[in-house]
Amino acid sequence: MTGIRARIIGTGAYLPKKSVSNDELAKTVDTSDEWVRQRTGIESRHIAGEGETTSFMATEAARQALKNAGIDGSDIDVIVLATTTPDQTFPATAVTVQDNIGMGDHGFAFDVQAVCSGFVYALSVANNFVTTGQVKRALVIGADHFTSILDWEDRTTCVLFGDGAAAVVLEGHAGSERGIVSTHLHSEGRHRDLLYVDGGPSTTGTTGHVRMNGQEVFRHAVTRMSEAVKEALDANGLTAADVDWLVPHQANRRIIESTAKKLKMPLEKVVLTVGKHGNTSAASIPLALHEAVQDGRIRENDLLLLEAMGGGLTWGSALVRW
Ligand code: UT7
Repeated sequence: MTGIRARIIGTGAYLPKKSVSNDELAKTVDTSDEWVRQRTGIESRHIAGEGETTSFMATEAARQALKNAGIDGSDIDVIVLATTTPDQTFPATAVTVQDNIGMGDHGFAFDVQAVCSGFVYALSVANNFVTTGQVKRALVIGADHFTSILDWEDRTTCVLFGDGAAAVVLEGHAGSERGIVSTHLHSEGRHRDLLYVDGGPSTTGTTGHVRMNGQEVFRHAVTRMSEAVKEALDANGLTAADVDWLVPHQANRRIIESTAKKLKMPLEKVVLTVGKHGNTSAASIPLALHEAVQDGRIRENDLLLLEAMGGGLTWGSALVRW
């Protein structure tokens, strides 16, 4: 142990200009505002337009996070970008962001892929670089252009997702209480057919579309998200009462509410953004985090619990002393 903690010193976000309500969606998809609202809590989602690629959204979010941290792109040593919808199969979207923010040939940049758990995975990877002293500052981004892999004929999935990006800057501080306290990651490949894309370079040669067994994913999500929270608390000798803010992956309001209920955590302590964003996959947790930081809800020394579950199945948590 080096005694270094990775502190989040800046956050940023980007949402596409176009926001589409349930009613607007119902003009082209066989659904209704009532159904989507009741079953998911989603009211509207942002849908990327011309030029709003994954790297564009990630770059905008990154620039804002750098600005809020008071540093330049050249101060960043590594970019870890979580996405399921890269600009291209390769190179990694992270290297485009590296170029865009002016890192030059300094440091390194790569993508991680854990679908909706992507941000927690990326944060965990970056935290390891920082706490081992390999890097001083890391840029962690969650960015997804999920609407490009939706089957707009499949109402059971297409109403659930939206596009967006958000970023955080990590900086190593020795002997600090503030920063990432712990991370826990899990995956269970035998359930990969519950939520997947029916295409890819080595199989169909196409990008494919999202397929999901919604009810099964829902069941696993409630169980795994609660387990992830409990694991993080137990590992640190804490209880749910010690947590100031639960910042969960935003897939479905009902999943979030059941997780909070299981933990006996009042909804006032939960950051909820699913209503306006839908499920933005890897961007969902940092978007929620950014919003609650910007509006002043999250304050210095607050204890935050971030948790996610997604395709793979993958799940995990991060406990953060702000
Ligand atoms: O990040 C992790 C990724 N995903 C998730 O966490 C999602 C997990 N799953 C869910 O959130 C929920 O399972 C859904 C929101 C996807 C579905 O909710 P549900 O309460 O499990 O609904 P259901 O699948 O049991 O469908 C109920 C009914 C069906 O009609 P019948 O068979 O009862 O007549 C569906 O055909 O609702 C129908 N339905 C719809 N109706 C209007 C399904 N999608 C729609 C729709 N609009 N968009």
